[in-house]
Amino acid sequence: MKNKMLEKFNEKFGYKQGVRVFFSPGRVNLIGEHTDYNGGHVFPCALSFGTYGAIALRDDKVVRMYSENFDDKGIISFDIENLKNDKEHDWANYPKGVIDVLRKHGYDVNKGFDMVVYGNIPNGAGLSSSASLELLMAVMMNDIYDFNIYRVELVKYCQEAENDFIGVNCGIMDQFAIGMGKDSSAILLDCNTLEYKYSNVNLKDEVIVIANTNKRRGLADSKYNERRGECEEALKELQGELKINALGELTEDEFEKNKHLIKNDVRAKRAKHAVYENQRTLKAVKALENNDIDTFGKLMNESHNSLRDDYEVTGKELDTLVDLASKQEGTIGSRMTGAGFGGCTVSIVKKPMVEKFIKNVGKEYKEKIGYDADFYVANIGSGTREI
Ligand code: GLA
Repeated sequence: MKNKMLEKFNEKFGYKQGVRVFFSPGRVNLIGEHTDYNGGHVFPCALSFGTYGAIALRDDKVVRMYSENFDDKGIISFDIENLKNDKEHDWANYPKGVIDVLRKHGYDVNKGFDMVVYGNIPNGAGLSSSASLELLMAVMMNDIYDFNIYRVELVKYCQEAENDFIGVNCGIMDQFAIGMGKDSSAILLDCNTLEYKYSNVNLKDEVIVIANTNKRRGLADSKYNERRGECEEALKELQGELKINALGELTEDEFEKNKHLIKNDVRAKRAKHAVYENQRTLKAVKALENNDIDTFGKLMNESHNSLRDDYEVTGKELDTLVDLASKQEGTIGSRMTGAGFGGCTVSIVKKPMVEKFIKNVGKEYKEKIGYDADFYVANIGSGTREI
């Protein structure tokens, strides 16, 4: 892939010495959904597919970016001193946002550059192609300028870029999983404190299967922000009597005893999900550490039910994929992953049954929904790096 990226660079910008090539993964979350911005735990891992970038600094202030995935947009060009979110610049706003945040934090990114990007994360599938691109840019700048910024700090800058420059109010999970990913491991991250630990997910007898609904995620961002708002409201109501800073601080019992403080049924359901999902995540990681994959799978199923019934972020396509998956012999657990409303499911499936799983679920999904789902057997990879 490195050579391919160098060739692409030559083709677009002409031969240059010292072109450097980087890779940044996508991510899949195994459990702990819509918990990150509620001060709870998540359990994601980085994937072996992601975003590649080839870059070389220039002597002037001109930035030129080209993405193989958005060939129709051509080469996007702007001045490094003029960083504004520009609709016309489309995908390039993500790397641009990262440079803007770095500069705001006092890192003197002052030279232009030429960059070619290519990603093999399925587009709009909820596997974090945007966070992948953000970390790609952040790590490139950190390495090229020798800033020596700690990785967790870069992760936070990328979240800041997404929040402030792009305007999506996401939590920290995606950027953290992508920046901090480790081969064969998932990361148990406490989003309240940013304490984390790696947990081995080198499954012996099972594989992780990602299934893409291929549904267009139209209203995802506005619904996402709406859920965040509902949880913030519910927290405020609970804070009337409880000394807590986040829903993630509550156990199930504490929630049950105090839920009457939330004056609206919908908000109570949202908060219930946040509390129970956080506890489920902790239980699931424990089960995995005890090699109890069946309990892990059961908790994945419960996670999906809660996202469907209480958090209401699934939809027909995701529910269909999970229902069909659950009916297959050899399925340990299945749930939606990421923000929801479309995007992907993640399932744990017994190795010998994988082909049948993909065939059966694929066939019935098409019959029920009218178009194809895509399936990937996930390989867990490492975080963003130079290759
Ligand atoms: C998106 C956001 C994350 C997280 C998930 C839901 O992927 O970017 O921060 O909130 O949704 O768990």
